[in-house]
Amino acid sequence: MRIAMIGTGYVGLVSGACFSDFGHHVVCVDKDPSKIEGLNAGRMPIYEPGLETLVATNVRAGRLFFTLDVTEAVRDADAVFIAVGTPSRRGDGHADLSFVYAAVEEVARATTNDITLVTKSTVPVGTGDEVERIVRSVAPDRAIRVASNPEFLREGAAIEDFKRPDRVVCGTNDPEAATCLRAIYRPLSLNKSAPVLFTDRRTAELTKYAANAFLATKITFINEIADLCEAVGADVQEVSYGIGLDNRIGRKFLHAGPGYGGSCFPKDTLALLQTAERHETPLRIVETVVSVNAIRKRAMGRKVIRFMGGEVRGKTVAILGLTFKPNTDDMRDSPAIDIIQALQDAGAHVRACDPEGVEQARRMFSDVEFVSGPMAAVKDADAAVIVTEWDEYRGLDLREIGAVMRSPVLVDFRNIYAADQARVAGLRYLGVGKPH
Ligand code: UDX
Repeated sequence: MRIAMIGTGYVGLVSGACFSDFGHHVVCVDKDPSKIEGLNAGRMPIYEPGLETLVATNVRAGRLFFTLDVTEAVRDADAVFIAVGTPSRRGDGHADLSFVYAAVEEVARATTNDITLVTKSTVPVGTGDEVERIVRSVAPDRAIRVASNPEFLREGAAIEDFKRPDRVVCGTNDPEAATCLRAIYRPLSLNKSAPVLFTDRRTAELTKYAANAFLATKITFINEIADLCEAVGADVQEVSYGIGLDNRIGRKFLHAGPGYGGSCFPKDTLALLQTAERHETPLRIVETVVSVNAIRKRAMGRKVIRFMGGEVRGKTVAILGLTFKPNTDDMRDSPAIDIIQALQDAGAHVRACDPEGVEQARRMFSDVEFVSGPMAAVKDADAAVIVTEWDEYRGLDLREIGAVMRSPVLVDFRNIYAADQARVAGLRYLGVGKPH
């Protein structure tokens, strides 16, 4: 199949590269000349494990191309995927669809074929209808079939998620669009690795939001249980394991932490609430999840301050990990932002390290001292705070850490160390949802 991918952000670039790896002919488009120039020179605009090799292999094989020119990309395409950003509109949480609609219009003007136009960006229910209205008015003589195919890949595990998904969801009532999508995803069904579901467009659009809202709920639930564990002297990791073994609950997404962040959960839960409000069908659980998570992220900084004795003015706090999760350079809505803010507001000096996130973090904080790694961060610090569970922070020599700190205090927001282990190494330790 011949595919054009409009937008080379996380979803677009990974999807385009993986489609080409399935053997399809893929042209990826972006408006940003430096991005396209970089990609053509083999430079990735994001950090994602395995992506650089995947892109290089498929470019070399003559199946993957990058261009600034939509017309060139959609020429001869069977399917055009829209994978541009849908950020939260400032102020009201609505998904900003202006990039999607602009891309749709451009594609409709440029195409000379009868294509299947697929929305991969996460878009609110009913967006497909508006896309259809745009293509009918811009290209009335073309049979452009509009479908929805939301993407569920996670940053940091994006290639694996794309190639071995739990499911693929396709939304269309058009038989030709369904045939086209079936052909595109055939490599997945060949080894029965993933069910490819076909449903109507609105159901597909809502499935994506419902999945993300449910996962955000699961995390927020265990985070509140973690607070209760601390109050009653129980261990949230044991509770999580105990409930997760029940197949109806499942073990994933039950790790208590400083609150969820990232490019999807915060934005998508807000957008879902807007849809619910517009349809006068309140989603009270999701409303609560959103506010509990926001409050939690702000409370984490205060928790550190309390554990340090309530006064941090003039003290140095080392932050280990800045990104919202490991294996990404993404700082969007990361709990580290709220934690650093709270510490700085209280007068602390913040020193931070992260294997990939420093560049993005630098743009957010001019007054944080960024250092190369954990040992440099903790030297003479009054507390060390693990915010992101990067692999390289999992096996630190705690004795060595304690020995170079001014006061040996470790706050572990990801529970990667055991309290006993830290105590034996001479550190005062605070985990999440642990008895103390
Ligand atoms: C998420 C969805 O998982 C994905 O399906 C969707 O397409 C996009 O949004 P992503 O944002 O990349 O993916 O990351 P994910 O691994 O889901 O983590 C999101 C946040 O939840 C992170 O801040 C992470 O630390 C937090 N989290 C996750 C927890 O705090 N506890 C958990 O048990 C799981």
